Amino acid sequence: MISEEWFPVRIWYMDAPELCSEAKSIFEAARIDQYENPVYPNGYTTFFSNENIPELDSFKDKLEALIDRGRITAIWLNHMKTGGYHANHVHANSHFSGTFYVNEPQNAAKILFHNPHWSTYQFCIPPLSEEEKNDKYNARYVHYAPKAGRILLWNSWLEHEVEVNNSIEPRLSISFNIQKI
Ligand SMILES: [Fe+2]
Repeated sequence: MISEEWFPVRIWYMDAPELCSEAKSIFEAARIDQYENPVYPNGYTTFFSNENIPELDSFKDKLEALIDRGRITAIWLNHMKTGGYHANHVHANSHFSGTFYVNEPQNAAKILFHNPHWSTYQFCIPPLSEEEKNDKYNARYVHYAPKAGRILLWNSWLEHEVEVNNSIEPRLSISFNIQKI
């Protein structure tokens, strides 16, 4: 039987390890611990006030050129300590969202994407086999571990979260939103 896919969910990634040292120096310049974080516990984010980080401007230009999907309209630093997590959410007012991973500490929290079609499978009778439950069509979630230098990109409407972070060393990432030009 012929199979055609109509509503697939795509997640893209590419590796740019050459940006890691610049990203680390941006974190040092930002003095991240001065930023309040009302969004997730045990961490800091510049999401609400990144106008104070001029070093991010040239980094943003480099990311924008590498990704080549449009204009980066927002970019922010995330510093997640042990026990930090970020509950499920989507990113408003943008086409694509993404994260650049600055480091990959041992036991660092993975990002977890939710299958937007998953509720439809609740009605499967008889239930799916164990193998089917975990394949790319039926899995409830997919996880990606941080990899230093990796850029992860997804459609902004895709619900995601960051699991509880168990690394001793802070998990550092730079997130952004993109609007198609
Ligand atoms: Fe997010």
